[in-house]
Amino acid sequence: MTVTFETIAAMRAKVAAWKADRVSVGLVPTMGGLHAGHVALIDASVAACDKTIVTIFVNPTQFGANEDLDNYPSDRQTDLETLSTAGADAAFVPSVGEMYPDGFATRVIVDGLTDCLCGASRPGHMDGVTQVVSKLLNQAQADRAYFGEKDWQQLAVIRRMARDLDIPTEIVEVPTVRDEFGLALSSRNSYLDTVQIEVARKFNVILRKAAYDIAAGGAPAEECAKAAEAILAAGFEKIDYVECRDSESLAAVEALSERPARIFAAAFLGPARLIDNHAVV
Ligand code: PAJ
Repeated sequence: MTVTFETIAAMRAKVAAWKADRVSVGLVPTMGGLHAGHVALIDASVAACDKTIVTIFVNPTQFGANEDLDNYPSDRQTDLETLSTAGADAAFVPSVGEMYPDGFATRVIVDGLTDCLCGASRPGHMDGVTQVVSKLLNQAQADRAYFGEKDWQQLAVIRRMARDLDIPTEIVEVPTVRDEFGLALSSRNSYLDTVQIEVARKFNVILRKAAYDIAAGGAPAEECAKAAEAILAAGFEKIDYVECRDSESLAAVEALSERPARIFAAAFLGPARLIDNHAVV
C-alpha cells in the first residue's frame, strides 16, 4: 500500500517510525510525469532499501522565466499509480507553500560545477535544483537517494553538495533508460510529435559516434563541432552545447587523459530542449 504525504511533518513522522524499527529508507526525488526512467530509480531503491519514498514536486525555483513550468507534463493520478505499481511505499507531494513558506530566503549554491553546460545556459537552474534537493534530503533523512545519469551535471552537483554540506544520505546514480532507438526517456519527449521523435532518436547515435571517435584519438573540440553539425543536419533547430568534459569535475577536456570523460549535449527540437550524455570509452 502506498501512502501519500502532503506535509513535511507527516512524512517525517513516518520515517521516524520506520527508523525506530531499524528499517532502511530510499528517496527518489522527481517532478512527476513518471516514465520508465523514473521507474528504474524506484526499482533501484526498492531493491536496496526496505522502504521507498517517491517525491513529486514541480519545483518552481529551477525554472527560468521563459521555461515550461506552467505546462510541465504531470498527471498526479497516473503518477501515483505508476509509483505504487513499481513498489514504492510512500509518495511525498508537497505544495509550493509547504516547500517555500512566506519569508523563505535561503539559497544553496555549488560554485564551479554549475558554471558550465546547463548551468551556463539556464541561469539559476542548478541553484534551484540544489535548493530543493537539499530540502528534500533534510526532510526525508533517507539512507540513500537515487538520481539518474541522464542529468549527469545535476548528479555531479548534488553529489558535491551532499559532500560539502555533510548530508549523510548516500547519493546513488542510476544509468540512463533509453527507448529501443537509444533516445533517453524524458518527460519532455511528450512535447514531440512523431516526426520530431524520429529526429530526436538520432541525437544519441550522433553523440555515441563522437564519443567513440574521441576515444579513438580524435580531438575533442573537433569531434564535438562535427557532432553539432550532424545534430543540426538531422533536423534539430539549434544547438545549445556539445562539449567533452571531465566526468567528475566537469572541467573542459582538450585532450583525453586517463581521467574519465563524457560528451554532453543540449539541443532544441520544436518545443523541446533535449539533453543527453555519453561516456568517452
Ligand atoms: P525529473 O526530471 O522528474 O527527474 C527525476 C529523476 O529521474 C532525476 O534524477 C533524473 O535524472 C531521473 N531520470 C529522468 N529521466 C531518466 C532516464 N531516462 N533514465 C534514468 N533516470 C532518469 O531531475 C529532476 O526531476 C529534478 O531536477 C529534481 C532532481 C527532482 C529536483 O527538482
